[in-house]
Amino acid sequence: MPKTKPILRALGGETLPVPPIWMMRQAGRYLPEYRATRAEAGDFLSLCYNSDLATEVTLQPIRRYGFDAAILFADILLLPQALGADLWFAAGEGPRLSTITDRAGLDRLRPVADIHETLAPVYQTVRNLAGALRPEVALIGFAGAPWTVATYMIAGRGTPDQGPAHALKDSDRATFEALIDLLTEATVEYLSAQIDAGAEVVKLFDSWAGSLRGADFDRYAIEPTRRIIAALKERHPTIPVIAFPREAGERYIGFHRATGADCVAVDDSVSAEWVAEKVQVDGCVQGNLRSSHMVTGGEALVSETRRIVRALSGGPHIFNLGHGITPDADPDNVQRMIDAVRGG
Ligand code: CP3
Repeated sequence: MPKTKPILRALGGETLPVPPIWMMRQAGRYLPEYRATRAEAGDFLSLCYNSDLATEVTLQPIRRYGFDAAILFADILLLPQALGADLWFAAGEGPRLSTITDRAGLDRLRPVADIHETLAPVYQTVRNLAGALRPEVALIGFAGAPWTVATYMIAGRGTPDQGPAHALKDSDRATFEALIDLLTEATVEYLSAQIDAGAEVVKLFDSWAGSLRGADFDRYAIEPTRRIIAALKERHPTIPVIAFPREAGERYIGFHRATGADCVAVDDSVSAEWVAEKVQVDGCVQGNLRSSHMVTGGEALVSETRRIVRALSGGPHIFNLGHGITPDADPDNVQRMIDAVRGG
């Protein structure tokens, strides 16, 4: 059957006259309907594990804006929780986890085969969504990439420089690498289960890839991604994979080839013109409007959106932000961005 969903066509390498569009964190606190459903769920994690409400918040931005893709509502930190880490969200402070600082901590985690018990509600959300979306809208599943997830598991929280993860890597490389290997294996199983439940595309978020330098970038950003993609392609050859090694800079060059990703998502630290010349030559790219335009709006939002669309019009492109939309964004600015992408 020919691919008709615009996102799947772009991921298959087609250059479309109008790029398909979705937005990182499109279901989020900038939307009043999200805040209402989250209040109904009680807290963020209860929302993630309530399949009916998670389905509802996933669909809210699709209804409001008609995006070309829905992204499963969940979080990259559910996988460590399924592996046995404690996870909670301190109000206004972001995620907190129990920390892994040595081999004994790693050995206390559950076997990979056990993750599905905790994650069953997430798969149910995917199944709900697969049955609820209009035929032209694609369903994206996701996971964190091993390095990024490891940075949270080691530090127990988000860190500005990923210092604790770098410290473990440099002081006890065997334990660090065992954690990366475990997460690589678990991520294959997690994404595979999302695909079995109906995800049509999967995305790997490596939000902290930019802090890996030199050979560390090859070993801990490229290599786990390559292994995950190879394993997924063996089981699900038709499912495209988007990789997002955020802040990779020069290392975006060749990332498709090095990992087998069908699409490389780029943050806003690189210009769309540079991306066209250096990255899009290897395949589909996704990005890269600065998310602060969703707060500030105005003529700059429209002109920047048009510039990105134009710069990447010579190859396969999925329009998106360079990072997630923030809670202080104006929902009307999202509509202005979509109009600028679709209306020229
Ligand atoms: O994009 C989407 O709409 C899908 C859902 C999604 C969420 N988190 C929901 C969420 C996705 C794909 C993620 C990925 C995620 N989670 C990443 C990688 C992408 C990135 O942003 O770099 C990371 C690092 C996390 C970990 C995480 N989750 C943090 C650091 C935070 C706190 C920051 C914040 O915005 O409060 C979260 C919470 C979170 N995940 C929220 C949402 C909608 C906000 C929770 C709330 O409603 O209060």
